[in-house]
Amino acid sequence: MKSQELIELQHDLLQNIERNLPLIGKRCPMIGKAPDDFTWDYPKADGYFWTDSFFTGELWLAYMLTGEGKFRNCARMRDGHLKQILDTPLWLNHDLGFEFSLAAVADYKLTGNQEARALALRAADALRSRFNWNGHYIVAWTAGTEGKEHAQKVQGKIIIDCMQNLPLLIWAFKETGVSSYLEVAKYQAETSHQYLIREDFSTYHTFDFDTTTNEPIAGRTWQGYADESCWSRGQSWALHGFAQLYLLLGDESYLETSAKLADYVKSVITPDLVPVWDYRLPASEIQYKDSSAGAVTAAGLLALAEGLTRAGHPERATAYREFGLAMLKALRDTCDISTKQGSQGFLAHGASHVALAQNKNLPNYADAMLPYGDYYYLEAVLRAMGMHSLFW
Ligand code: GLY
Repeated sequence: MKSQELIELQHDLLQNIERNLPLIGKRCPMIGKAPDDFTWDYPKADGYFWTDSFFTGELWLAYMLTGEGKFRNCARMRDGHLKQILDTPLWLNHDLGFEFSLAAVADYKLTGNQEARALALRAADALRSRFNWNGHYIVAWTAGTEGKEHAQKVQGKIIIDCMQNLPLLIWAFKETGVSSYLEVAKYQAETSHQYLIREDFSTYHTFDFDTTTNEPIAGRTWQGYADESCWSRGQSWALHGFAQLYLLLGDESYLETSAKLADYVKSVITPDLVPVWDYRLPASEIQYKDSSAGAVTAAGLLALAEGLTRAGHPERATAYREFGLAMLKALRDTCDISTKQGSQGFLAHGASHVALAQNKNLPNYADAMLPYGDYYYLEAVLRAMGMHSLFW
């Protein structure tokens, strides 16, 4: 995409946020209502979902770009909810990184707000406390009130999405000098590399450990098509996560891992450059697209290109940048509904829990707007314009 096109796209996305800010108010978008209804569903009143900070992240990006107080004020309307998350043990899981990096850390980085800093440090403590120091892994989910079968499934489980949550720990380390935050982030990256990334640099969604011995058991899926398939959003969480880790810590092994994950995407993505929801989906299945996987991958490729530039590899950087820009253009050309009248989000055709969608007749889970797709789409546009000092 050319720089003028990027400027126009950024303008359209900011206009969409500005138009929808009074409609969304203090609520946190969860998923689009239906494949052709571009308005949001939200968690039930006084409820919680892992997606709670993606619109907040967009608001902080809008504040960063414009300096207009309305974006800051609207973002801060969710501070009470952030406190409630930290005070509700059953809501605590590895997603604290998504929830607090894009909200409290963003506020602190942009405005120096000390209350936001304190909240973000509490979140980092809660995330660090999920670390199993014997097995060297962060337990992704909490065995809550869902029953023994659920507890058995989740207690020794890591998931690839967690790569996005490590920047909160790295931020806390840089802010306080307490080394255990950094140790946990590095161990989790190492364990994820060892068990969640296969030899061909495709990824498992999750990996289970024996909760008594911490011995590895097996890779499994949660949202993908099958244990041995490759859920495209999971691949994007990994690609972006390892590139971001390089930008934060400067260890080139992270950069090379991200590049190999990107090469895998290049080898399997369909010619239209919008990922199918699983890169190993059999041809007999409905080939739903996942625009959110496209947005996270595009943002990750641009972060990877920035990393390769910093590391002194300009030609490789150009190749990944061109791939990222082509994916971004594909999203704009085939999924962008940001300027459509009444649209509350940016991208159609996101896919979440497709198996659930098919078993329980929830069509919006297989084809709808997703707030994380939107956040990373805006992030990708900004990275394409050369902005890499974000909230991670
Ligand atoms: N982190 C959950 C998802 O990507 O759907």
